[in-house]
Amino acid sequence: MSETWDVVVLGAGAAGLMTALAAGRRGRRVLVVDHANKVGKKILMSGGGHCNFTNTGTTAAQYLSANPHFCKSALARYTPQDFIDLVDAHGIAWHEKELGQLFCDGASRQIVRLLLDEADGVGAQVRAHCSVQMPRRVDGGFRLDTTLGTLECASLVVATGGLSIPSMGASGFGYEIARSFGHALVPTRAGLVPLTLSGKHQERLADLSGVALDVEAGCNGASFRNRMLITHRGLSGPAILQISSYWQPGDDLRLDLLPGRDAAAWLKAQQVERPGTELKNVLAEVMPRRFAQRLCEVWLPNRPMRQFSPAHLQDTAALLQAWPLVASGTEGYRTAEVTLGGVDTREVSSRTLESQRTPGLYFVGEVLDVTGWLGGYNFQWAWASGVAAGAAA
Ligand code: FDA
Repeated sequence: MSETWDVVVLGAGAAGLMTALAAGRRGRRVLVVDHANKVGKKILMSGGGHCNFTNTGTTAAQYLSANPHFCKSALARYTPQDFIDLVDAHGIAWHEKELGQLFCDGASRQIVRLLLDEADGVGAQVRAHCSVQMPRRVDGGFRLDTTLGTLECASLVVATGGLSIPSMGASGFGYEIARSFGHALVPTRAGLVPLTLSGKHQERLADLSGVALDVEAGCNGASFRNRMLITHRGLSGPAILQISSYWQPGDDLRLDLLPGRDAAAWLKAQQVERPGTELKNVLAEVMPRRFAQRLCEVWLPNRPMRQFSPAHLQDTAALLQAWPLVASGTEGYRTAEVTLGGVDTREVSSRTLESQRTPGLYFVGEVLDVTGWLGGYNFQWAWASGVAAGAAA
């Protein structure tokens, strides 16, 4: 049995569903297929179950890509406010958590419901449990053999996402399709992911698992001020997840444990104010006590403030502002929120997301080499790229 559609979308995640409703609104006959047993699984698990669906401060500067300009066109034409309007139209209550991050008050499934209702409203069909073989080019379009029969379409949209969380349906199929149609790939790696420690670095911190503190984490020119969480295996928390996207094995990680303070001036002031107080107790006022104590057992001398010479105080300040911890790796795709790299954008139109090698073939969402920071930016890219492709496919 063979069915013919105007548009077939591979992947019923955020970008695929958004493409479907945008194309459906133009009167295109759209079918979305997904190999998973349920659609929108990552949306369901996102934002701790409340889906951080956009970020009001979205600009191209919050995305990593070999071509940092690529995302600008789609982001400019579908803004966070456009998605907020859609959320409001569906009566979904939301709130801003911090830094422009918007979350549902209720469960993430409201966003999946919104997308499915909108898709339904424009006649787009969505089918889960559908495995697909490598698409083939046929006259004026594409043919796909699937477990639900053969599909033919004029436009094929690849919205299969990245490699993160394979147990949620992630696969490298989108990359294979890109390669088979002659597209280059930017090497992929896990992003927004906890960092691991090994050897003495891990031993010195493992028993502090659960301790969290504010830091500024820096690497390769980027820096993020937010919470850091010590885990059994290493470091996590928003500051670490953010910087993980900029870190690669062997790179220096810079952790400022007194973010926003001039550590030298602050320590000098403490020395004047309370010369008899030990360093660990001074530090315990600005960071968790157990952590301050460990710093003073392993990395810093613990003695009354008056016993620090000016040079020792300088050294102490320098260590606190650049804590010399060496990460050994990341937790990998098993826990990563996103995949860095992907389909090279140089042969994809930034306006329509159409392949410049194969007319009618489109790539949207995370499968492309466009990766946002933590905080709703990745969904905003999924919505914006989906709308751009849906307007053309
Ligand atoms: P997505 O991965 O959503 O969808 C791809 C779809 O393709 C899946 O349904 C998959 O089953 C399907 N597929 C894959 N291979 C296939 C094949 N061979 N055949 C058929 N179908 C196939 N972002 C954000 O902005 N705010 C947030 O709160 C969060 N939170 C969050 C939490 C967690 C735990 C994770 C893992 C990720 C996030 N993210 C996030 C990131 C966000 O979920 C992600 O960037 C988007 O879902 C990407 O959307 P896509 O549609 O491109 O891929």
